[in-house]
Amino acid sequence: TGMFTYDPGFTSTASCESGLTYIDGEEGVLLHRGYPIGQLAENSNFMEVSYLLLNGELPSAAELENFTYTISRHTMVHEQLSTFYRGFRRDAHPMAIMCGVVGALSAFYHDSTDIADPVQRKIASHRLIAKMPTIAAMAYKYSVGQPFLYPDNKLSYTGNFLRMTFGVPAEEYEVIPAVEKAMDRIFILHADHEQNASTSTVRLAGSSGANPFACIAAGIACLWGPAHGGANEAALNMLKEIGTPDKIPHYIERAKDKNDPFRLMGFGHRVYKNYDPRATVMQSTVREVFDALKVNDPLFETALRLEEIALNDPYFVEKKLFPNVDFYSGIILNAIGFPTTMFTVLFALARTVGWVAQWNEMISDPGQKIGRPRQLYTGPAARDYVGIDKR
Ligand code: CMC
Repeated sequence: TGMFTYDPGFTSTASCESGLTYIDGEEGVLLHRGYPIGQLAENSNFMEVSYLLLNGELPSAAELENFTYTISRHTMVHEQLSTFYRGFRRDAHPMAIMCGVVGALSAFYHDSTDIADPVQRKIASHRLIAKMPTIAAMAYKYSVGQPFLYPDNKLSYTGNFLRMTFGVPAEEYEVIPAVEKAMDRIFILHADHEQNASTSTVRLAGSSGANPFACIAAGIACLWGPAHGGANEAALNMLKEIGTPDKIPHYIERAKDKNDPFRLMGFGHRVYKNYDPRATVMQSTVREVFDALKVNDPLFETALRLEEIALNDPYFVEKKLFPNVDFYSGIILNAIGFPTTMFTVLFALARTVGWVAQWNEMISDPGQKIGRPRQLYTGPAARDYVGIDKR
């Protein structure tokens, strides 16, 4: 059984070749198709980044217009899908609803499940990217007992999502440009991150020939965990629990205590051994959103102080634990008005673009095979069955 390389957690295994995203964890560098994440977050928008990830190059003005229009044509969901929601409890976690509803999409759109057909693959890709905001907003609306809103394609991808989430039929919903921009930027920051757990899950599911809707549902299920996408929800809950800066040292001690399962949520990363470049953008976006909404949240002070204390503590320094993308995002999402249970849903919405792009890359790769890791067997050697009367 010693024939296989034992690599739990795949810390030293490259599972594929990919031209999408480059990470230098030591230096804290993240590039999409070669473009630094900071430049994309500053100058681009989510539709353009989506086009870039899917197609490899930044679009011309006409290409972007065409792409955005195509996506907008797929924003509605099958009317029967709304009855699917009604089968859930109102207090269901929206991520549980997302797993179910996205998993069910192939039942509604079986005309785009033939993965051998490039046209169907493209339609499925566009459908997933376009419908995810609608599905996410519906999960929210269902939980608060408000009616579902249909998409309004006059709005941007992100503006439309905000309206479907926070608008009500009785009133005109006005998209606040600064909030739309911040939300769009948060989507950019979550769009792709090479072979993280959920993306690897999407690829592994896809490697068997499963349809793209099923693969993305698998990715959503994986993303939910608190060590992965669930960390944004956990990070804000942690900041709330800590509350004021005077309580920080107690939690720092707990995070360092190996007998205590508590970890600083939003801290540490498998690949980054430096500041996560997404966290830098996220931190400055907090201030922009506070200014635009004329709000303040004392938890931001707590977060800044926590970061400062941790980054000066030998434990975090030696282990190279820095804030990651999830450390500050919750403060922004909270200010915009999302409940914590929606945070990971927003991550899933944005990451769908990366998953879809990675899935397409895999399907088009001639070297692609079914993913089938081996194991080191640790169970008993072969032995004879013993009848129940002899045990
Ligand atoms: N707080 C306290 N100690 C930590 C933390 C933390 N947040 N993260 C890692 N450590 C310690 C860990 O105890 C271990 O110590 P030792 O070597 O003494 O056993 C060492 O640092 C290495 O940690 P690891 O768990 O072996 O590293 P990993 O690469 O397997 O885990 C991680 C990476 C992100 C799961 C982990 O850092 C973590 O649990 N962080 C908190 C959850 C979080 O913020 N996740 C979001 C990741 S970024 C967004 C995303 O990709 O979804």
